[in-house]
Amino acid sequence: MLSTSRARLESRIAALARFGALPGGGVTRSCWSPPHEEARAWLIAEMRAAGLKTWVDAAGNVFGGLGADRLSAERPVVLTGSHIDTVPEGGILDGALGVLAGLEAVQAAREGGAAPARPLVVVAWSDEEGRYGSLFGSRAFCGRLDASAIPTMAAADGERLVDAMARAGFDALKAPGAAAPAGAVHAYVELHIEQGARLEEAGIPIGVVDSIVGVRRSRVVWRGQADHAGTTPMARRRDAFLAAADYALRARDLVVERGGERSVTNFGVVNVHPGVSNIVPGRAELVHEMRGPDAATLESLWNDCTALARQVAAARDVGVEVRPLSATTPAPCAERVQQAVVKAAEGRGLAWQRMYSAAGHDAQNLAAVTESGMLFIPSRGGRSHRVDEASDGAAIERGANVLLDTLLALAG
Ligand code: GLV
Ligand code: MN
Ligand code: MN
Repeated sequence: MLSTSRARLESRIAALARFGALPGGGVTRSCWSPPHEEARAWLIAEMRAAGLKTWVDAAGNVFGGLGADRLSAERPVVLTGSHIDTVPEGGILDGALGVLAGLEAVQAAREGGAAPARPLVVVAWSDEEGRYGSLFGSRAFCGRLDASAIPTMAAADGERLVDAMARAGFDALKAPGAAAPAGAVHAYVELHIEQGARLEEAGIPIGVVDSIVGVRRSRVVWRGQADHAGTTPMARRRDAFLAAADYALRARDLVVERGGERSVTNFGVVNVHPGVSNIVPGRAELVHEMRGPDAATLESLWNDCTALARQVAAARDVGVEVRPLSATTPAPCAERVQQAVVKAAEGRGLAWQRMYSAAGHDAQNLAAVTESGMLFIPSRGGRSHRVDEASDGAAIERGANVLLDTLLALAG
């Protein structure tokens, strides 16, 4: 039985963590930023040194192939990977693990003389974290990128995708050209840290992902009246921020009450205008995110929250506008990929459990074009999207070996 090298994988994880490293630990490496572009160059060099053919598509997705130097319907590949961009003040494993364990698995297959019937390809998808638009690179690859939306795609701080990509040497308007030929991917499997605490609490080393949540985001804009914060009597104020805050608290309760145990919601972006202490806020903006594994529940929560926003606005005598920003739908993972992961875990004597993914992943886009699935390893303390995100070295090694066996089984 072939095995991956834990030492080589850990040293690559440490090397990649240097790009965008923060003084107190963790990384900030948003897609197209200088640290990301340095990490991309490093990754391509590592892939080449590992004996893979490399290429980069029009959406900035990076590929390393064993037995393939491009994607074509004539020679479908088994694809694995994840992303090397991170959230601001993020951890070193969210994304990086799946890319580097994929590289390690493909390198181990090559060095071990495996001769799979289908080529193995490792990929790093662009902007998985969605600074400029959710799951950008895999969306382009799967032919799901709306070309007409590209000129207006922008980060929450206003930076436009076209400018960020141009700075990194890419033409954003060409990104839809990254769409893969139909039938070019035989199967996709992605290794990721769980990012929650279910595996660790259950003492189970391998999660077999059966579905991935959908995520909906909207910008909720509240318009009240800017006024003198000393002289305007409290009863006369039309405070846009207090309406936004009232809505946020009520929407949280609504999702908890009506969404079942698996739906969650977050308000991670708040802007208040003009943003000075002696003016009653005249305008406030929230980015409202909702997630869940059930499409019908997510849809009804969305409708209920929109109605709630109108009620709050009427009660507080302000205007409100709900602008949809993005929507991904919950995706099931392919039974064949799940079975391959189960067999690989059992072959290594590892306990496994089926679970849904509460985070979004590129694998949900891939599910539209091929048989797609994921496996998870435990996250220490369930921590993720924070600088102290971690998994044990032994857990990482187990995950890489299960990934290797899964890839070889899928490649035939
Ligand atoms: C991806 O990290 C997500 O936000 O689920
Ligand atoms: Mn993430
Ligand atoms: Mn991720």
